[in-house]
Amino acid sequence: MNEASSVCVIGSINMDLTVSTSVLPKQGETVLGESFATYPGGKGANQAVAAARLGSHVHMIGAVGTDVFGADLKNHLQAEGVDTSAIEKIEGQATGTATIILTNNDNRIIVAPGANHSVTPSYVKRHRKVIEKSDIVLLQMEIPLETISYVVSVAKAANVPVILNPAPYQPLPSSILHQVDYMTPNELEAELLKKDLIDEDVLRKWITTKGKLGSSLYVQGAEVNIPGYKVTVKDTTGAGDTFNGALATQLAQGIKLKRAVSFANAAAALSVMEKGAQGGMPHLQQVEEFLKERLDKR
Ligand code: RIB
Repeated sequence: MNEASSVCVIGSINMDLTVSTSVLPKQGETVLGESFATYPGGKGANQAVAAARLGSHVHMIGAVGTDVFGADLKNHLQAEGVDTSAIEKIEGQATGTATIILTNNDNRIIVAPGANHSVTPSYVKRHRKVIEKSDIVLLQMEIPLETISYVVSVAKAANVPVILNPAPYQPLPSSILHQVDYMTPNELEAELLKKDLIDEDVLRKWITTKGKLGSSLYVQGAEVNIPGYKVTVKDTTGAGDTFNGALATQLAQGIKLKRAVSFANAAAALSVMEKGAQGGMPHLQQVEEFLKERLDKR
């Protein structure tokens, strides 16, 4: 690879509290599940780790609380090679958590944002130089919307391209929709966003992720599907984050969109083969070997 590209991720850092169960409780009911584990997570942190494992120099802007989860998660990001100098510990705040139910090979997630809500525009302003000197900026929606708006304006003023992963869904102002360079909704988020009167210009920036079916993007005005890969699924949590981290890494290196999306599909496929949002996130060599193996079989 050429000199490492630099990716700036501004987003959430959560501890994932994950329970596997074959039965979902009804309102007022208690059921016995199968297993429980805690894993590092948060859409922002997951995307930062994905990009770092794939060879980018990653700088993350985010916040944790002063509790045990916060210290563990910051140390973990550092160990993954993410630059954590712009991750602050917020006094009196709990670190973000995500309660995750794994059932039927898919996940349901409830996030309690905690310290992620302290990532305000004034917080980011203290670290704006990191944004300005990056090759690409990667955002999700587990931090305040006004922060997303602020980051987009800083990045655009510095000519730094922006990928917005609109997850979890919330209605977006037209200024954000029009300024970002790429948007990466999953099918559910795409449906919800379309109800907000999205115009053609905005639609053409979309790369819609479709799980094992791959992703679709627009080439010369037409929607094109880039196929996914069939693998044995252990945990789908973090597949979208792996896709986004991989896409950012590729685009930051100047790789063309179609090829970058195909690479990101492969990285996302590998990520679901282990438990935890970051458990199966691949390193560069794993993706290259996987792609070679799959191409040889065609
Ligand atoms: O995208 C998966 C992530 O969403 C989890 O790690 C959880 O923390 C939530 O942010």
